[in-house]
Amino acid sequence: MNAFQYRRGELHCEGVPLRRLAEEFGTPLYVYSQGHIAGQYGDLHKALRSLDHLICFAVKANSNLAVLRALAEAGTGFDIVSGGELYRVAQAGGDPRKCVFSGVGKTRDEIEYALKLGIYMFNVESEPELRRISEVARCMGRRAPIAIRVNPGVDPDTHHYISTGKHESKFGISLREALDVYRQAARLDGIKIRGVQMHIGSQITKTAPFVLAIRKLLRLIEQVRGIAPRTLQSFDMGGGLGIRYRDERPPTAVEFARAVMPHLKAMGLRILLEPGRFIVGNGGVLVTRVVHIKRTPVKRFVIVDAAMNDLIRPSLYGSYHEIIPVTAKAARRKITADVVGPVCESGDFLAQERRLAAVGENALLAVMSAGAYGMVMASNYNARPRPAEVMVKGSRYELVRRRESVKDLVSGETIPSWLM
Ligand code: LLP
Repeated sequence: MNAFQYRRGELHCEGVPLRRLAEEFGTPLYVYSQGHIAGQYGDLHKALRSLDHLICFAVKANSNLAVLRALAEAGTGFDIVSGGELYRVAQAGGDPRKCVFSGVGKTRDEIEYALKLGIYMFNVESEPELRRISEVARCMGRRAPIAIRVNPGVDPDTHHYISTGKHESKFGISLREALDVYRQAARLDGIKIRGVQMHIGSQITKTAPFVLAIRKLLRLIEQVRGIAPRTLQSFDMGGGLGIRYRDERPPTAVEFARAVMPHLKAMGLRILLEPGRFIVGNGGVLVTRVVHIKRTPVKRFVIVDAAMNDLIRPSLYGSYHEIIPVTAKAARRKITADVVGPVCESGDFLAQERRLAAVGENALLAVMSAGAYGMVMASNYNARPRPAEVMVKGSRYELVRRRESVKDLVSGETIPSWLM
């Protein structure tokens, strides 16, 4: 489903013109299509239907309660990386028993909270963490279900900041050491071996790295079955499915399933996936208004009211996000410009040397593919209140997070008594 399309010259999200939303809720504004999000989940779920599987949406990609609720309703589980994300899932009505807990630095409090809520399993990233989880579980008179995140040493051919399965990465336990750690796990009173997990990186646009990584783990999985024949239930293959930002040709859900299924079926385990970007990436845009156009002797800048604090991906990874006018009329003449925000950093840009529609002051622009790793990475840098978020379903829409106010910016801060 392409949720964002021009109708009668106006860019819509499903049945709602973005102009109307910008006028009603102001800019910068994140707008999400529930249809797209549910559709992406549905496509993947359907493509994998001949396998016993569970899709655990990676909450880090977009943790808005409305998004989580829409997915929980559709039947997903969740991949969480903090107590905060688990709290969000619970608030949204998600099922903790369908949650996997990833991340290299889980604290005692977080482990205890996750055990209390009864999550499906912890994806363990190191031996000290395994011991800590066991200890916390034992104190609670429980056994914590775990998988070990195994680093298969595969290069997923993506940006190095989001590539996690190579040998030098901080994530997971190497394939060489994994069996030994599983043997230790089997001896710990507070641990129950439930799965094997991997996650090799993000925005992966080919199937080959997934297939290679799975094949590298097959022998280990058999060995773990030997260690924990009664409790081993799942193989969790992580997330990382790429999307189209510009001209990438990532596999569709069906192509992806076709490539990995033969290897997965033979395992006879329940298969877990942790997609984030694939589900929400192209289901959201950031709508921004042009403040004015600035010309210097060598460049033209389109200065907009959204900045790196609202969407950091271009500044942080040099990511490409398409930028199109909300009104197609503006689209005929083209200019080359940098699209920049008001933040005081040269690194504050949404696009550089970009051919785009010749828009003028006050025009509305849509920064596309902003549904994943957009709002969740927003900050208050330069004391900028964070944007509002709206969810659209057909011709209905609702504010799902109000815009922050300047009061919100200082709430929680106090001036020490000696300065009063
Ligand atoms: N599972 C684990 C253990 C992860 O670390 C991640 C992402 C995912 C699943 C979901 O990956 P996805 O399906 O969304 O590719 N901020 C970066 C992306 C960081 C990804 C971190 N881990 C960006 O904006 O590109």
